[in-house]
Amino acid sequence: MAIDHLHTWIHEIADHAGEEVTLRGWVQKNRVMKKLVFCVVRDGTGICQAVITRGEVDDAMWERAVSLTQESSIELRGIVQADQRAPGGYEMQARELQVLSPSVDYPITPKEHGAEFLLDRRHLWLRSSKQHALLKIRHTLERAIHDFFHSRGFTQVDAPIFTPNACEGTTTLFETEYFGQKAYLSQSGQLYMEAAAAAVGKAYCFGPTFRAEKSKTRRHLTEFWMVEPEVAFADLDDMMQLAEEFFEYLVGRSVEEHRDLLEGTLDRDVSMLEKVVAPFPRLSYDDAVRQLNALGHDFEWGGDFGSPDETKLAEQFDRPFVVHRFPAAIKAFYMGRDPQDERLSLSMDVLAPEGYGEIIGGGERASDLAYLEAQVEKHGLPPEAFGWYFDLRRYGSFPHAGFGLGLERMVTYVSGIRHLREAIPFPRLIHRLGP
Ligand code: 4AD
Ligand code: MG
Repeated sequence: MAIDHLHTWIHEIADHAGEEVTLRGWVQKNRVMKKLVFCVVRDGTGICQAVITRGEVDDAMWERAVSLTQESSIELRGIVQADQRAPGGYEMQARELQVLSPSVDYPITPKEHGAEFLLDRRHLWLRSSKQHALLKIRHTLERAIHDFFHSRGFTQVDAPIFTPNACEGTTTLFETEYFGQKAYLSQSGQLYMEAAAAAVGKAYCFGPTFRAEKSKTRRHLTEFWMVEPEVAFADLDDMMQLAEEFFEYLVGRSVEEHRDLLEGTLDRDVSMLEKVVAPFPRLSYDDAVRQLNALGHDFEWGGDFGSPDETKLAEQFDRPFVVHRFPAAIKAFYMGRDPQDERLSLSMDVLAPEGYGEIIGGGERASDLAYLEAQVEKHGLPPEAFGWYFDLRRYGSFPHAGFGLGLERMVTYVSGIRHLREAIPFPRLIHRLGP
């Protein structure tokens, strides 16, 4: 097949109004009338409607146009014009049409399909407009994450994926064989960022993390991406402030760059996102428990919040909010203790309203060596795997704090979708390893 290498990407089509151009893409929709064919072509950067008029093109081309099938790859040539009525806002009067490769019986049709059917065909499902919008929003959030930390003097330091120890507890650890010893897939880069903070002051990592989550919920993936800043000489209050400003920035960038996709393709109520302005309401765990009980919602002090508890709490706010100082007993081994109340940890979560719940978790780290050694033992962790981590408290220990934000939780919240599985290109779930 002959390919014209001077083709135009559809997102640049506005620069070519009135000109003859070549477009390449896939047939999204083909509507055949008596004398006209309306073919909506998408190339991933946009969509354009091509019009083929019987009598104005030769019979062979008319036949090709009439028989176009969904997702065939094609090349079109013709003059483009802005047209408000056309999907995408542009229309091409096509004079040439080549089928680069046909698509026969494309499985995903405009009718409704079940979630499992679509997930089995995730490699094709990504082409549909809603999934395309989610890919764009995820990409923008990834860029915004780097922009935010770069502009504040942070250095990105990559954490390893193979690790010798747990970070967030042993119940969700993926184990793998590593040349005769055991290795674990990283649950969090945090411990490494603590080392990095002593090297660069303000560090962050951003990469895949793994949790063998046995529960099937719409908020848990077994592989997800987490961004984790860690700051030397920072405390819990500093982290709440950083988390709030970061959250506001990410939501703001999404709205700024993707209002059309959010309102149009995803049907998101953007006014809810526009309320995301720091500082957020903050309440202690103690207060949160009191409020839950006052709202008639049974919750006992000492437990971790489940999804219904988070949703109930969130009903009082129209914005994200922060809960701080959770009981130390339900938090990881590295958490600092509240000097005012030894039962409490210097921890915080940022929760989103509208049923989305926890998006950020973090806090101030314990900096005392003896305390950490005791905690490792208490949590049943192997002390030999933490020798390097204890070194950070042996050689110039320093107060420090950080947090982790789950990228898919943020994509899900910003986009207003229900389930995290659509917020990552190829989701990994308890019962799903493919495609
Ligand atoms: O609250 P988590 O477990 O905190 C940590 O891992 C800390 N070490 C982070 C730190 O302080 N550097 O996880 C942080 C965030 C959660 O708030 C949530 O957004 C996301 O990671 N997350 C998950 N996202 C998808 N699927 C899962 N199974 C997740 N588990 C946590
Ligand atoms: Mg958490």
